[in-house]
Formats: sequence, C-alpha cells, structure tokens
Amino acid sequence: MFTDHLSIDTWSDELCTKFNQEFSVAKHKLHEHDQFSKASIIDLLDNLPKKQIQCYTMVADATNKDSIKAVDPDEASGAELYEAAEAGMFWFNLKRLETFDDSYQQLLDEMFDQLASKGAPLAGLHELSCDMLLTSPGAHTHYHIDRGPSALWHLVGSKKLWVYPSMDFDYISQENMEAIFAGKMLEYLPYSEQLDEGSNSCVLQPGEVVWWDNSAPHRVENNEMCVSINCSYKTRASVKRFNIQRANHYMMRNMKISKPGIAESGLSADLKEFAYRASNRFLNYKPDNNFRDDYATTLVLDASTPSYIVQSESPRMPAFLR
Ligand SMILES: [Fe+2]
Repeated sequence: MFTDHLSIDTWSDELCTKFNQEFSVAKHKLHEHDQFSKASIIDLLDNLPKKQIQCYTMVADATNKDSIKAVDPDEASGAELYEAAEAGMFWFNLKRLETFDDSYQQLLDEMFDQLASKGAPLAGLHELSCDMLLTSPGAHTHYHIDRGPSALWHLVGSKKLWVYPSMDFDYISQENMEAIFAGKMLEYLPYSEQLDEGSNSCVLQPGEVVWWDNSAPHRVENNEMCVSINCSYKTRASVKRFNIQRANHYMMRNMKISKPGIAESGLSADLKEFAYRASNRFLNYKPDNNFRDDYATTLVLDASTPSYIVQSESPRMPAFLR
C-alpha cells in the first residue's frame, strides 16, 4: 500500500546503515499518496479524538522557549484546525495515529520492514509510532532533544532544520540530559545563536525524509505552513541509553558522583544497566513533579478571530490532557 511511495528500495545500502546514526536526507514520494492530501488530513483532523491533538503556540524567536504555550483546540472542526495551522501561529501534533487508523500501522510496518531489509541498524526494534506535525508559517520548534530515535518524513511546505552534535555536553549539559531522560524536565533547552556554528542544517522540501543520530539536539523554523510525519521507535541501543542516563540521574547522583560515565558498551555499562533495571523494579523511579499542572491554559483556539486564539475566563486543561 505504501511501499512504492516510501521509495526505500531506491536508497543505497550505505545510506540505510546511517539510519539514525548520522544526519542524512533521503528522497520519498509519500507526499503524493492520497493518505496525505489536504482533504485526507482535514478528514483525519475531523475524526481523530481531541485527546490525540496536541496544540501549542509560541513566539517566533529561537531563544524564547518559554513562549511555548498550550492551546485548547476545544470544539474546532478539521477545516478550522487546518486553517489555523495555515494562517495562525501553531504547532499541532497528532499523536499515535497508528492507534486510531490501521493504515498508519501498516505504513510503519512497511517502512521498518524495508529499512531492516536494507541493513538499517534496528536490532531490538519495538514500540513504533507515527505522529503528524502541522506547523504554521514562521512557527518554531525550539532547540530540544528527543528521548528516542525518529525520522521526519516531510510532506507539505518548506522548513529549515538545524541538527547539533549528539552526546556533546557543549550543546546540552550532562545534568539536563539526565533530567530529560528521567522525566524531570521538558525537552526544550537553552539556546544561543553561537551554537549554530557546530550544526548541520538543511531546508526540507516535500518528498524528503531526514534523520540524525539519536539524542542530537535539533530545532526547526517553518518557512511556510508545513506537514510532516514523525515516525519514532525504540531499539535495544536506544533503551540502553535511556537506562544508563536514568541510572546516572537516579542512582549515581545519589552516590555523589558528579560526572557519571556515559559509556554504553563494555562491562561497567552492562552492570550499570543491570543494576538500574533491578533497582527500578522495586523503587519505580519517577519524577516528583507533574508536568500536567504546567499545561493548564487560558488560551483557546477560535477560528472566528484573526489570531485564532481567544482567552478563556479561567485556566483549563487543554483537550489533549482531559
Ligand atoms: Fe524533536
């Protein structure tokens, strides 16, 4: 159903071995598939439960991560949501589409079967998921890291992406990296323009897919209204990084070790991961803070106003958290 449009069979084996190991851009034709026409996306927006539609607004300033605010999409229709993405200042994330529509599960299955058959490093592959991002002209995705690997399949519009070195504490402090993996901190990080000197960047066009080494900081500025799908997953290697980072945060720091090792291979890394897994089974490490409390908002999407946003009288949880 999607194999021809994925076009993975046209990629070189060398390119496939770089999948989520090294910043790369490859070609596809998914944007020509009926599944991703404007009418199909509006239909998806009409029918997807609001619980799966994250909605944020922000100021178009890469240094202002604190301007990111949740917006309640309330009762907006699919057409109104799409129009708000085209003409407002929004970042919509349609979450876990494979749980709503089997065709997205099929897309993931075909994608990762083909990648595996071409030698992509996917040992221990599990928890595939597919999100769709709709972003307004000028909208920013601020400087951040993700907790696991993903690939961004770009479908509509043009956007500029910067990717920075992975596991490099000149770009993210060790404490912040651990706190993000521990679930104690949101993914967004302090950013200054000087960091761009060490980045790779590209202007993504429809029909291009991009990936980078797992945990590399990245950020995006949208030149036009953009639509992409973000396919994420876990592997044995990504789970090991997650466990080592959480071991450092929850165990090593408690032992007053100020710079815990980040090695992910070798006997000491294996022992650290084993100790973390055993300990976590009993102690169930989790953060004391609850980010849900930070998401209460007075901003409500309203397609009848020029900014597409109105203020509610009192703070409310956006629909995606109710
Ligand atoms: Fe990301």
